[in-house]
Amino acid sequence: MLTVRDLQVSGKKVLVRVDFNVPHKGEVISDDNRIRAAIPTIAELLNKGARVVLMSHLGKVDWKKLKKGEKTQEEIDAQMKKNDLGIAKETLKARLEEALGRKVNVAFSKENRGQELKAAVDALGDGDVLLVQNTRYQAGEEKCDPELSKEWASLVDAFVMDAFGSAHRAHASTYGVPEILKAEGKQVAIGYLVEKEVNALSRCVEVKKEDRPYVAILGGLKVTDKIQVIDTLLKKCDYIIIGGAMSYTFRKAMGAEIGDSFLDESALDYARKCLEEAHGRIILPVDSVVTNSFEPVEGRIVKLAGESIEPGFQGVDIGPKSAELFKGIIEKAKMVFWNGPMGVFEQEEFQAGTKAVCEAIRDLSGKAFTVCGGGDSASAVKQFGYKADFSHVSTGGGASLEMIQNDGHLPGIDIIR
Ligand code: 3PG
Repeated sequence: MLTVRDLQVSGKKVLVRVDFNVPHKGEVISDDNRIRAAIPTIAELLNKGARVVLMSHLGKVDWKKLKKGEKTQEEIDAQMKKNDLGIAKETLKARLEEALGRKVNVAFSKENRGQELKAAVDALGDGDVLLVQNTRYQAGEEKCDPELSKEWASLVDAFVMDAFGSAHRAHASTYGVPEILKAEGKQVAIGYLVEKEVNALSRCVEVKKEDRPYVAILGGLKVTDKIQVIDTLLKKCDYIIIGGAMSYTFRKAMGAEIGDSFLDESALDYARKCLEEAHGRIILPVDSVVTNSFEPVEGRIVKLAGESIEPGFQGVDIGPKSAELFKGIIEKAKMVFWNGPMGVFEQEEFQAGTKAVCEAIRDLSGKAFTVCGGGDSASAVKQFGYKADFSHVSTGGGASLEMIQNDGHLPGIDIIR
């Protein structure tokens, strides 16, 4: 696979697919980690004298729901307004100038199709950057529309994939464009971020003897999305620790009472199958912090529950006994892959379980290979100040899980191979 360092692109127009899907409130970006992570690749291309065109999505635009009549055009317009990628321009310029120690021309194109976009790309000088409006403003992006892919591909001479967080999406900007350019014999490569992510996550996919015991820790809300990876992880890992919202489906499958905790009914049979096949290698919480209200309102009761949770209460964090149980497993690990917090860590009262996992991984520093697989767990690791204690913190939540699930394959990277 070519990387950005192999490219000869002086005076050439290069489309770089980055993942600037950053958390933001209005125009204020609350975490610019994904922009920072893309800087080495962009800086390298600018140093080589390339003309860099950056494309990314930001948030969601529900074109499918519009088609089905589940959303109105006004709602789609509001989603687009909320997810204007123009908010990233100044941060991008500042981070690039910091990295390069000089001024950089960074322009923003409000249009992401048509003559205006072409004119903006053609106006670039060597070493200039054009950030293009949110790719999801086009309904064809998620459908990998051939016409859209063709138009975007026709703008440039080469393509670099550096959007690891979006590499599990076979969209026009992540898949259609490199597919066309490759067929035309143009240069397509991965960037430094994707290279770093692939190197770290490949170790979690092809497990060596010295990396055992290998412990996976899963949690978080997106139960239905994540639950299917357990099958694969059972084949690779020695233990799978399950905390967070996902654990209640498993506890229910074992016959426990879970009160009003989050339950994925459709996954109950699958959870039973996993538990049977695991022969004790799936480790579940034995106690929980529970509450009668998720919102911090007056009259809210927060208390500790054992194996059973009474009706009217829901689990919002693992309890202290579970934290000790999990720590005992983690401390023996030679490799750890963690995806998903143990509780609602956004609220202070429910942070202890996620912090306990962070501490256990910190105590492995220098003794084990430890990966945090992006998403909310990466935000928690950063928020609690443990980022430097991990061997690798991924920028892709869904992408890192899918990479493990698909034995190292992601469409946005396979197309470059
Ligand atoms: C992410 O944040 O996980 C990536 O940017 C992908 O976003 P998506 O789930 O909206 O495709």
